[in-house]
Amino acid sequence: MFETLLHFFFKLSRALLDCLSIVFGLLNPSKVRRLPPISDSILLRSSVELSRKIKSGELRSEQVVKAYCKRIEQVQPFINAVVDSRFEKALEEAREVDRKIAEILSGKVDEELLLSKPLLGLPFTCKDSIAIKDMNFDAGSLLLKGNKATNNATVINNLCKSGGIPVALTNVPELVLWWDSDNRIYGRGNNPYDLSRITGGSSGGEAALIAACGSLVGVGSDIGGSIRLPSMCCGVFGHRTTPGVIPIEGMYPPPCDGWLPYLSFGPLCRYAVDIIPMLKAMAGPEVERLNLDKKVDLSKLKIYYMLNDGGNPLNSPVSEEIQLSMKQAVKYFENKYKVEIIKLDLKEMRDAFLFWIYAMKSGDYYTLSSELNLRKNEINPLLELIKSIFNLSRFTRPLLLLACLEKFSPSPDSKFAKSLMRKLDNLKLKLLKILGSDGVFFYPTLPIPAVKHKTTIFSGLNCGYTMIFNVLSFPATHCPMGLGKENVPIGFQVASSPFNDRLTIAVACELERAFGGWVSPSF
Ligand SMILES: *[C@@H]1O[C@H](CO)[C@@H](O)[C@H](O)[C@H]1NC(C)=O
Ligand SMILES: *[C@@H]1O[C@H](CO)[C@@H](O)[C@H](O)[C@H]1NC(C)=O
Repeated sequence: MFETLLHFFFKLSRALLDCLSIVFGLLNPSKVRRLPPISDSILLRSSVELSRKIKSGELRSEQVVKAYCKRIEQVQPFINAVVDSRFEKALEEAREVDRKIAEILSGKVDEELLLSKPLLGLPFTCKDSIAIKDMNFDAGSLLLKGNKATNNATVINNLCKSGGIPVALTNVPELVLWWDSDNRIYGRGNNPYDLSRITGGSSGGEAALIAACGSLVGVGSDIGGSIRLPSMCCGVFGHRTTPGVIPIEGMYPPPCDGWLPYLSFGPLCRYAVDIIPMLKAMAGPEVERLNLDKKVDLSKLKIYYMLNDGGNPLNSPVSEEIQLSMKQAVKYFENKYKVEIIKLDLKEMRDAFLFWIYAMKSGDYYTLSSELNLRKNEINPLLELIKSIFNLSRFTRPLLLLACLEKFSPSPDSKFAKSLMRKLDNLKLKLLKILGSDGVFFYPTLPIPAVKHKTTIFSGLNCGYTMIFNVLSFPATHCPMGLGKENVPIGFQVASSPFNDRLTIAVACELERAFGGWVSPSF
């Protein structure tokens, strides 16, 4: 009886939040405005193709870097994705690459090693929470405004060793802790398909810039969905790697030990073929465990799927069009590869948000009220929330609201939290057994496409859809599946058991072939 009442109460709350979301959305009418046309065909080539052309001398790295710098200047006024750039230095580095390649091609020097670099002369971008020496390093926190990185993050050094050239740094939510890329330093990023909508987050500037052809490939991090959520909102590919494969030193906030099983870096890109070269370039020696060069026989896969999270009454229902895209994808694999398709019904999936909250609090951790104050003494979130109404707070509203809620939540040592963690352990064992070494799991990335600005607080818990694979330590790839009826991207994620990233990436490549992948937001 009590449960039924509670369920009814949650459903009612959901309906109320939906109404608020609609009202706020109406205050902010759609701005479906096509971005400037793409006049340079360089911007429509994958990194694999560009790399081949640069290495054969058919194209110069400088041309590629220049094309992207120009495009950034063109789209930035629309999407506000870039927070810092290094165009001059990048062009210098590109010319240096061109000089070396010319020498090799003319037989002056023998440097085969140089030609084996996967990203030789290719530009990339990175979110503003991962350090690039001498560039802004503030993670969107007003308290860190003006801070510059004194060193490169390891992943940036790895990318540079692979020949990559950093061009720009992109917008994130405050401390990369929410999924709307809006902060008190740079303001909010806009969705390239409809400027009145969010880019998602926390790698929101990355996803928006890549979707708008302002970047070829980008570096993201994902502890709750920060690669996949913006990839979903902006219609690009985003791969959350198995944790431990790509080094994570050099990010803000520096991860607590307890976060390590859930946090990982990964690439965002327009073309699915670019995921693997980027992954190899970003990773450390652990990449061997992924067997990325081993061919995937798609006909040997088993496809498991769920069209929703098992019914969390506080989450938005999964939209018809997202469900349809998943059904079409499943049907495609069934027809073309005759693979086994199994629909799962795991009710435990719906507790994702709670699993995540308590997973983050395992071991040493900081309360959100202290995290917001750069891990110093706690702020008073209620007071700040009231101040924020009058634009007097240094912090963003969704995080203040979460910090208030945190005050009332049961402690990680409570019976409630302990029983949740046991439930999660059981779910993990169950899923590891189900997926084995040849299973992939189709699951929504978000139940609805990108929402209007300022409305994420009404559908905040929807990010449970991505968080579930963080708490399970699974890899997952977001796959764009075209535009929905409101002309904004739809899609879903494909997960697998740990270290089977090559399966989800192979599925992403196949879905791109079959359904077209990224769609241009320009004419
Ligand atoms: C850091 O990365 C930049 C950008 O690629 C590179 O030019 C520079 O040499 C690196 N610095 C160090 C100290 O490794
Ligand atoms: C809020 O305050 C900041 C300065 O702290 C100012 O730049 C901004 O324009 C203000 N926003 C509004 C909506 O008044």
